[in-house]
Amino acid sequence: MDNSTFSYTRQIEMKGLGHAILTGETLIGDEPFAVLLADDLCLVDDGGDNVLKQMVGLYKQFRCSIVAVEEVPMEEVHKYGVIKGEMIRDDIFQISEMVEKPATEDAPSNLAIIGRYILTPDIFDILRKTTPGVGGEIQITDALMQQAKAGCVLGYKFKGRRFDCGSIDGFIEATNYCYKKFY
Ligand code: G1P
Repeated sequence: MDNSTFSYTRQIEMKGLGHAILTGETLIGDEPFAVLLADDLCLVDDGGDNVLKQMVGLYKQFRCSIVAVEEVPMEEVHKYGVIKGEMIRDDIFQISEMVEKPATEDAPSNLAIIGRYILTPDIFDILRKTTPGVGGEIQITDALMQQAKAGCVLGYKFKGRRFDCGSIDGFIEATNYCYKKFY
């Protein structure tokens, strides 16, 4: 930790994930950065790179925003941002469509965004112009769709396992899994 600095900012109004990310702009400046949503716990097999490290490797190759994605059952797509895109490698999609929390019948696929993002700093200007979307909140998914239209955003099917710790079932599942694995 000697080479790390910790700073924090507060989102004073609950205006959504996109707005929360925008509050970090003064700390980040003009650099690519990562967003990790703590309620998505991602674990990889022993010896494998963690999900963010996998994504940093991809960023070095593609130099554009990247979102982690995972296939979920169609009846669960309404809980997530959902993408559609052209498969450019068996685990990478160039995104052409992104919808935040779609109804099952409106979902472009069952590829759900998981809480790991690498974002290029032009996202801040896009976020400033993004109007409230689903739930009246400023959605990072909507801002990323604008970025995808103007350039490139990738969806990456990461290696590893993810637990939805924002739900009671997922939190208990993660707890039991970690208990067995680490104790
Ligand atoms: C957020 C994002 C959503 C994403 C999800 C991943 O939603 O808005 O696009 O799929 O995180 O966990 P939230 O869970 O905050 O409602």
